[in-house]
Amino acid sequence: MKKLILSLGFIFLLRITAFAVDGLWIPLLLGLLNETEMQSMGMKMTAEDIYSVNKGSLKDAIVQFGGGCTASIISPKGLLLTNHHCGFGQIQAHSSLEHNYLEDGFWAKTMKDELPNPGLTVTLISRIEDVTEAALRGVTEDMDKRTRQSTIDKNIEGLKTQVTKAAHEEVMFRPFFNGNQYFMFVTVTYRDIRLVGAPPSSIGKFGADTDNWVWPRHTGDFSMFRIYAGKDNLPADYAEGNVPYQPKHFLPISIDGVADGDFTLIFGFPGRTNEYLPAAAIRQIVEVSDPIKISVRDKTLAIWDGAMRADAGVRIQYASKQAGLANAWKKWQGEVLGLTRTHAVQKKLDDEKEFQKIVAVNPAFAKYGNLLDDFNRLYSEIAPLAAAKDYYDEITFRNIELFQLAAGFNRLASAFENNGEAGLAQAKAQLGSRLGNFYKNYRPEIDQQVFAALMELMVREVPHNFLPSSLVDKVVEKNGAENYAAQLFSSTWLTGPVQAEAILTMADGDLLKAIQNDEFCQLAKTLAATYNEQVASPCNELNERIESLQQTYMKAQMEVFPQRRFYPDANGTMRCSYGRVQGYKPRDAVSYFTKTYLDGVMEKYVPGDYEFDVPEKLRQLYEKKDYGVYGENGRMPVCFLGSNHTTGGNSGSPAIDANGNLIGLNFDRVWEGTMSDYNFDESICRNIMVDIRYVLFLVDKYAGATNLVKEMKLVRPKTAATQKQKPRENPRFKTKSKEAVKY
Ligand code: ARG
Ligand code: GLU
Repeated sequence: MKKLILSLGFIFLLRITAFAVDGLWIPLLLGLLNETEMQSMGMKMTAEDIYSVNKGSLKDAIVQFGGGCTASIISPKGLLLTNHHCGFGQIQAHSSLEHNYLEDGFWAKTMKDELPNPGLTVTLISRIEDVTEAALRGVTEDMDKRTRQSTIDKNIEGLKTQVTKAAHEEVMFRPFFNGNQYFMFVTVTYRDIRLVGAPPSSIGKFGADTDNWVWPRHTGDFSMFRIYAGKDNLPADYAEGNVPYQPKHFLPISIDGVADGDFTLIFGFPGRTNEYLPAAAIRQIVEVSDPIKISVRDKTLAIWDGAMRADAGVRIQYASKQAGLANAWKKWQGEVLGLTRTHAVQKKLDDEKEFQKIVAVNPAFAKYGNLLDDFNRLYSEIAPLAAAKDYYDEITFRNIELFQLAAGFNRLASAFENNGEAGLAQAKAQLGSRLGNFYKNYRPEIDQQVFAALMELMVREVPHNFLPSSLVDKVVEKNGAENYAAQLFSSTWLTGPVQAEAILTMADGDLLKAIQNDEFCQLAKTLAATYNEQVASPCNELNERIESLQQTYMKAQMEVFPQRRFYPDANGTMRCSYGRVQGYKPRDAVSYFTKTYLDGVMEKYVPGDYEFDVPEKLRQLYEKKDYGVYGENGRMPVCFLGSNHTTGGNSGSPAIDANGNLIGLNFDRVWEGTMSDYNFDESICRNIMVDIRYVLFLVDKYAGATNLVKEMKLVRPKTAATQKQKPRENPRFKTKSKEAVKY
């Protein structure tokens, strides 16, 4: 293993500064790259305790949850802990005005009451292997991107046939360092995952959008699920007779609490970071891409929020969609602010100057001489296309809902053109299964307003050579976007579930004619055609060249700056990041403490408010200070801060102490640090976790779900350590007093 990595020249010196612990590390390589540093920070475990293929280790308790989040196993019966916002879609799907689990919370009193969630999966990692050498066999530096990729694809196909794995295991290969390294993951995916419990949104989403991405925070962002397996403990489709999964390892829970400086390990599945981009790319994000996406969502969210506040039914229907849209919208704002304030572009430019200086004097680096010029040229070439793409992506794929449905119907026509009746039948079945879900959460009168607002924006902001002239005509020449929207929404049958279902059951010829005659379907089709031709295809072509350059640039940075410490960007695979419980200084004369308490929840409490209401039962518990064993000197801890490097996908990741016990639940980052995906700055980048004692207090005292607490293993490692220490303080041991000082 070591030899392999060394041979690739990717072993970089660890520059151990005063614990600059940014990084998203591969569990397999901790022993090689991180163990010493982690232990010097107080970790009592070995790398083998965290990741091992020979024995149960921490990694066996960490799962990817529903594709986009992380969860951890916290009992021998497959009980899962993740965020409230990670289970939000499921909680929403089970909710109605009669059983409003979003508003009231949900607790299964027995396992029989746990609710199945079709489509929800969790994935465990059996093992990870570095397959770089085999994956890149035959690849040369002068290959063009396509040839390179097809060589790699062929290598990987070959590798797939050689993997030793059980029948229930799957295998996937992922590029790291922009395609300079490859790893293989053998995984097991469970398909029967049931909802066990969730607090009301007034706890699980306390502070909502106002507090999102912000410290100080007071959100009890957790929910619980359970993995079910067949009788053989292996993955099985949902069946009533399935049994709770028995894990190789589950996390013990420490109720001793955290203190400033304590070691913290975040273990999970971070989604995407881009720490090694050139200045030109950062400039595009700050100046063009983020602002465009924000401006589109500004409009949609204003309309959705108004409708949600006015109507409890809409509130349930749009809750999950709104949360997703608002989350990224707010993050981008923090990102722009953070990148600007930390002078990220200038930092990158300085760095590039340094890079160029070294390259200029070293003949071995001559091949990198034009890299940055090429980047700059490509980024300016792509700028107008990328901007148009951002508008199109946001508006037609994410914000106006009816476009997604229209695209589904238009796909029927192209399926028929390409694959005849059989193709059409298949596409119909697919679309048919989606219709129910779409309409369950759809209000055409809201979407119509969004349509009007966004078409107006699009025609105003996107250069008209990138738009179909018929659209420009209708919005500009006729009587404006609002009238166009009204006319279109009243003429299309897409807005009516009954009509759409009926059209789907028509004879093929009639069905295709109905699609062709529908004005909205036609608009969607024209937009898609113009987009693909004028924007997407030239944009993708340039993007491919940029990616190719980025791959070279990644390699070049590692060679040119051998003293630096590199970790691969997040790519949805399992990673560890370690840090400490630590506050920060967001700006001049302001300093943030590391912990929040229930007192802070009560400070923010606004009776009946959409974001800051507090349930009566919680207020009563607060009045009585009824915190059981979970309190801390008569107060109830709620959230805490750490210096761990995290990103989207780390939601639901366990925060683990020096001994491998669960102490918290990761769910967010701080406002000043949301730019960490591009420019991690250890002085202000912090992750936010729910204190595990708050979770337990809510499960136990608030929800009365003592059955769940009984399943878990609660430990007190700090208390145990001080008790061990006690005899040394005993006068009888006085001679050893020097040793006691060490504690
Ligand atoms: N910002 C966190 C994350 O990125 C939490 C999001 C959920 N909360 C919300 N108000 N939408 O996912
Ligand atoms: N809330 C994020 C998520 O859903 C994690 C916070 C972050 O992006 O750091 O994964």
